[in-house]
Amino acid sequence: MRNDAVAWSDFDAGEYWKNNYASVLPEDAEIIQWASKFLIEACGQRSGLKKAVDVGAGSNLYPALLMLPWAEQIVFTEYASPNIRWLRENLADAPGEWHWQPFWDLVAALPCYRTVGQPRRRLAAVHEIRRLSIFDLPPCTWNLGSMFFVADGMTTDVAEFESAVRSFLGALMPGSPFIMAFMEGSSGYAVRGVRFPAVRVTPRSLEALLADLPVTGASVLRTDNSIRRVRPGYDAMLLVTGFVTG
Ligand SMILES: C[S@@+](CC[C@H](N)C(=O)[O-])C[C@H]1O[C@@H](n2cnc3c(N)ncnc32)[C@H](O)[C@@H]1O
Repeated sequence: MRNDAVAWSDFDAGEYWKNNYASVLPEDAEIIQWASKFLIEACGQRSGLKKAVDVGAGSNLYPALLMLPWAEQIVFTEYASPNIRWLRENLADAPGEWHWQPFWDLVAALPCYRTVGQPRRRLAAVHEIRRLSIFDLPPCTWNLGSMFFVADGMTTDVAEFESAVRSFLGALMPGSPFIMAFMEGSSGYAVRGVRFPAVRVTPRSLEALLADLPVTGASVLRTDNSIRRVRPGYDAMLLVTGFVTG
């Protein structure tokens, strides 16, 4: 099933959030630990310099939170209108409980992150939301980027998956650090009974693709599923970090 054949307007953003991010899964905690370590090393102590993008954000704010210490601006791009609405509602600075606090707590004491006093307010101040397909991203526009579970979670077509990864990397300027996450071996996923497509990615298939992409210093990390059996439908989560060469 190709990306343009999917009923993205039926994507239930609140249900997707509930299924995946109502609490911190051990796999996400591992990804957050690795990605924050990479970004601290890649971006250094200077804060507020980067124009960041999170592509296909859906109802997941933790990739943007990972980039927050260095971002003077974070653009959230999305294609599905329910996700755009969810982002508008959930990125506003509001009083009361913040569902993303447990995610932020995992990085709050780390170098660079500890300088961000009020992450919810800061995210509200620096973000912008744009309706944009991954295939229409403007080239060479941002200098820090994330793309979590998007290229592999929007089509079953391998060529289209690879083209989406290229488009994400092409939207970043040469030298930009990036973080990308994928579901290993995903057979697709359901959100409130509606099926969405996936490409079956493996560490080996990703490494073969990376060898062909304009990136340097890339590494692929696989979550340790001995902690807990992952939920049915995929084998592990994979984090890819590196720099765009252009
Ligand atoms: C598996 S979800 C991942 C969402 C989120 N990034 C996360 O980490 O959970 C796949 C996302 O891809 C988005 N998407 C689908 N087609 C897209 C397109 N052509 N361009 C950009 N995003 C797209 C969907 O709206 C959905 O939010």
